Amino acid sequence: MKITHKLLKLLCMAAIFNINAQDKSYLDKKKPIEERINILMKQMTLEEKVGQMNQYNGFWDVTGPAPTGGSAEEKYKNIKKGLVGSMLSVRGVKEVKAVQKIAVEETRLGVPLIIGFDVIHGYKTLSPIPLAESSSWDMKAIEKSAEVAASEAAATGINWTFGPMMDISRDARWGRVMEGAGEDPYLGAQVAVARVKGFQGDNTFRSPLRIAATAKHFAAYGFVDAGLEYSASEVNRNILYNQVLPPFKAAVDTGIRSVMTSFNTIDGIPATANQMLLRETLKNKWGFNGFVVSDWASIREMIYWGYSPDEKSAAKSAVDAGTDMDMEGGIFVPHLVSLVQNGQVKESLVDDAVRRILRVKFELGLFDDPYRFLDEKREKEVIGNKANREAVLDMAKKSIVLLKNEKQLLPLKKEGQKILLLGDLAASKNSPLGSWRIASDNNTAVSVLEGMQKYKGNSLKYEKGIALTQEEPTFLTEVQYNTTNREGLEAAKQAAKDADVIVMVLGEHGFSSGEARSRTQIDLPGLQQEFLEEIYKINPNIVLVLNNGRPLAISWAAEHIPAIVEAWQLGTETGNAVAQVLFGDYNPSGKLTMSFPRNVGQIPIYYNHYSTGRFTNKDGNVFWSHYSDVDKTPLYPFGYGLSYSKFEYSAPKVNKKTFAKGEKVEVTVTVKNTGIYAGKEVVQLYVKDDFASVVRPIKELKGFEMVALQPNESKTLTFSLGEKELGFYNQDGKFVVEPGTFKIMIGGNSADVQELTIELL
Ligand code: NOJ
Repeated sequence: MKITHKLLKLLCMAAIFNINAQDKSYLDKKKPIEERINILMKQMTLEEKVGQMNQYNGFWDVTGPAPTGGSAEEKYKNIKKGLVGSMLSVRGVKEVKAVQKIAVEETRLGVPLIIGFDVIHGYKTLSPIPLAESSSWDMKAIEKSAEVAASEAAATGINWTFGPMMDISRDARWGRVMEGAGEDPYLGAQVAVARVKGFQGDNTFRSPLRIAATAKHFAAYGFVDAGLEYSASEVNRNILYNQVLPPFKAAVDTGIRSVMTSFNTIDGIPATANQMLLRETLKNKWGFNGFVVSDWASIREMIYWGYSPDEKSAAKSAVDAGTDMDMEGGIFVPHLVSLVQNGQVKESLVDDAVRRILRVKFELGLFDDPYRFLDEKREKEVIGNKANREAVLDMAKKSIVLLKNEKQLLPLKKEGQKILLLGDLAASKNSPLGSWRIASDNNTAVSVLEGMQKYKGNSLKYEKGIALTQEEPTFLTEVQYNTTNREGLEAAKQAAKDADVIVMVLGEHGFSSGEARSRTQIDLPGLQQEFLEEIYKINPNIVLVLNNGRPLAISWAAEHIPAIVEAWQLGTETGNAVAQVLFGDYNPSGKLTMSFPRNVGQIPIYYNHYSTGRFTNKDGNVFWSHYSDVDKTPLYPFGYGLSYSKFEYSAPKVNKKTFAKGEKVEVTVTVKNTGIYAGKEVVQLYVKDDFASVVRPIKELKGFEMVALQPNESKTLTFSLGEKELGFYNQDGKFVVEPGTFKIMIGGNSADVQELTIELL
């Protein structure tokens, strides 16, 4: 045989991979990916194919019982046999190399592993929690934040993240609202796209600092009953098509490489076995060509749902529906081969699943260089570098929402003001990191105390006051709030007497939200409400800085406390971001992306609700839609957030009042900064279809723009409206635009808008 240069190169690659396949040309970079997949798949045994569909957890069995219970040793053995296509939660160049080496150098075909990890809001250097980031309404900053997260994760050998989470949710009891972008599908879709771009870049993965992303949880996980984690989401088609699916569709259109099924049932069918969702909608209708991974053991969990009588049937339902990879469920490897051999599962479905998984591996360049993400020098350079710290600080400032500012308490004065800082959370370097931060080190956030000391040095007085928790919680322990110990209260009260302004940092511990952290009470937990009221009696000049992973019900504070700053959990740079906002070096510009209820009983509460048949008739008539005990409006509505400046809106105008299908309408509004500080305002546009074949919400966000204005400056913004903004999905899942009148509303939040009417002829 004549040894050509090309053949020689392939033989060298094959030697690295130690492959004993017949035809090694799937290693040939020049061939199109689909051809390389064909060449490889032709040589794979059924067992090897099923192996690709199996994902093992590494050494971090924490997000649920590890059903396979496999020891590390057993897992290593199975990788060697070619029975593993992916691992999750293995991290660090050294560790990833150890498992990758086995897959590449010790298996027959040398198929590399894809290494997954929950990179949710950063890796080591942490950004704000995702809900906080969404409050920035700043897509560029959000994209940058995901890019930083991707780069740090990639530098430690990870090439696939289980994010972004794009579950729309209206239920603050659900702990996982911290992982999402709030209650609105339009904004949710934009945030999803920004995050996918941040993780995946231009989708070529030429850079070893970009990783594949996952759209999760498919679908409707944000609608779990009563906010109870892991339960059912019995949403109807209208909600599914118009609220739940838009962010997923947008992510697919942006080229996201994987989708994760959700734990819940929908219409009685577990999402992991949901043909309508996975096979019909995602794969067939939307043309998604990446792969679907189950959530942790969700294939096995179908047995406990009372859906699959045994493991075999769970495996069959999952594959039939379109679940391509089994995350730590241990279901596919023992059953799928025989299911195919007995004709119960079509081999073509297994082939389709494997093809999808291999496609992403090829795209990530893992066949060209399985060690491309494994460079110890790069790992050291990228993790925690200065640029990453700067990016997360920028994101953190932009995520803060000013909820109230009376008596001009804010910004604080840098000189000549006696400031007292109170609260356990103010000194915490752990809680501000938030939940879902597996790779970061504990106690690495800049605390609010440290941030404020940069401005005030030792003249800043600090008292812890009443302790927040009984002991410092971890990701794996339930947070136990302190409900008995009032030590520290007296000292705080004494100090309060002498202060000009008191900054109190109160709220939830960072581990109170996230997976498996549902709450039925969403007010200030433990003794904090009492703490706040006690201090207020002594000195009411309080700036309340909230730390929380979900909307909180803070009606008393909203009524009494003059200034309230929503500071979430802002990640590594928390203290610097909060201090810069408090002292006016950054003028807050965030707006809420979830409605804050007056009390927990209002949940689910959301701005884009329907009208009712009894909407306005309240003159002395009890038979109208209301609660007897509390106003039915939210305490703080979707889109709400103040600035140190004031913004004035002109009446909006349109370039035509009537228009035909295919035409666009232009809406203009002028916004003026009438305050004394330069500031930014998120101008929001909402639409209401007055009469439609399916009742439409009272308003829906269909456009927004952030405008930066100097004092006295004004700018005119133009929004373009067409069918995309005016249509909706009907009950058959078809996108329709129906003639008739539409209200167009513009304002600085969803409750405070000016409106006009246009008509589609
Ligand atoms: C379960 C969670 O629901 C999912 O979001 C996460 O990605 C996996 N565990 C892996 O940790």
